[in-house]
Amino acid sequence: MKMKVKLSWRIVAALIIPAGMLLFSSCEKYAYQLETVNPEEPVLFQTQIQPIFTSNCITCHKGSRNPDLRNGNSYASLTNGGYVNLPASGSRLYSQVISSSHSAFTLDAEKQLILLWIGQGALNN
Ligand code: HEC
Repeated sequence: MKMKVKLSWRIVAALIIPAGMLLFSSCEKYAYQLETVNPEEPVLFQTQIQPIFTSNCITCHKGSRNPDLRNGNSYASLTNGGYVNLPASGSRLYSQVISSSHSAFTLDAEKQLILLWIGQGALNN
């Protein structure tokens, strides 16, 4: 009987500890991304915007579907295709990112970064 109790506690611990770690790491990611959205700071295409495309968009936008959002192709595809015009809130890129078909692909902080980047002139920085 005692053995059984000890064993079940081990199982509970084995389940709770990884779950806690997962929760903690997801909070970390969210907190980090919120901190990066500071309207005073220039938003950098290479290190802040492209990683959003690489993680959330290229499963579908990998060449055959416009815009091509793969690293190395995305900037030309977005600018030549007329996706990043001003005002930023009316641009085709931002409108699509917040649309019902696409809203779930990005966090609010990521949407804000894309909006800011376009508003700052959509630089290849
Ligand atoms: C699951 C597949 C899928 C993912 C992931 C996806 N898209 Fe799309 N995207 C589509 C499809 C399908 C269309 C065309 C139909 C529509 O408008 O929803 C489209 C259309 C677009 C358009 C408009 C194209 C045009 O010529 O009008 C833009 C801009 C766009 N996506 C950007 C993005 C961005 C940015 C991401 C990542 C945050 C993304 N998409 C993630 C499937 C996807």
